Amino acid sequence: MARITAGVATSHVPLLGVAVDQGKTGDAYFKPIFDGYEWTKSWEAAQKPDVIVLVYNDHASAFDMKIIPTFAIGCGERYKPADEGWGPRPVPDVIGHPDLAWHIAQSLILDDFDMTIINEMDVDHGLTVPLSMMFGQPAAWPVKIIPLAVNVVTYPVPSGNRCWLLGEAIRRAVQSFPDDLNVQVWGTGGMSHQLQGPRAGLINAEWDNRFLDGMIGESDALRRIPHIEYLRETGSEGIEMVMWLIMRGALGRKTRCLHRHYHVPCSNTAIGHLVLEPAE
Ligand code: DHB
Ligand code: FE
Repeated sequence: MARITAGVATSHVPLLGVAVDQGKTGDAYFKPIFDGYEWTKSWEAAQKPDVIVLVYNDHASAFDMKIIPTFAIGCGERYKPADEGWGPRPVPDVIGHPDLAWHIAQSLILDDFDMTIINEMDVDHGLTVPLSMMFGQPAAWPVKIIPLAVNVVTYPVPSGNRCWLLGEAIRRAVQSFPDDLNVQVWGTGGMSHQLQGPRAGLINAEWDNRFLDGMIGESDALRRIPHIEYLRETGSEGIEMVMWLIMRGALGRKTRCLHRHYHVPCSNTAIGHLVLEPAE
């Protein structure tokens, strides 16, 4: 049977994609950020996951005000990097796993989650930057990806609790797929940041680190953080962190931390990164 072996969380700052693409990861500004991903790069190379369910948000690249799916799952064969205004990033196409994706879509929908099914879309920095952080610059990504897009851009966005429950349902879906697959779930976005308005540049390191603490172990307190707390304490874009709770929910009751990294500043945000495994 397929099994979820680990969860990875990371910020998805577009500037880091630029640093990789332009060979600047060793520059003084970027080095402490990328150093914190070295452990994970070797770990991923040894783990060799078959598939990643990659929870991310689209930033008005594939979707816009015409269509706003709360939860969407990519069931396609492949996805191209989106043009976000400077041309598509020079990274490989993302290769899907349609059989597992359709199985997860069916399982989630029969489990009362009304997913939007996407067969064709481009994927933006929310998905490609985490891949660059974990895998560098390969000719082809070494793993199949099932994109799972969450609306965290336009109000109303899903609650942390709904995200956690979706993660639990993804766990049931993966565990009922008959092929022997090593599956990871990634949660991306965050940490505290606000990109516009009088509070632009807001970073709350204390809150962020409490959130990182809460991802580890058996407490499920994070699922009850209300939207207003994310907005007040972590800025308008801090709400991206609800996506980490889908990954957390997919790991079961208790987690163990394998790696943790936090750094300020990175563009307008704090960089946060965790590698977790199910602890029972
Ligand atoms: C930045 C961070 C994001 O999460 C994003 O989607 C866009 C920009 C930033 O800090 O620059
Ligand atoms: Fe973002």
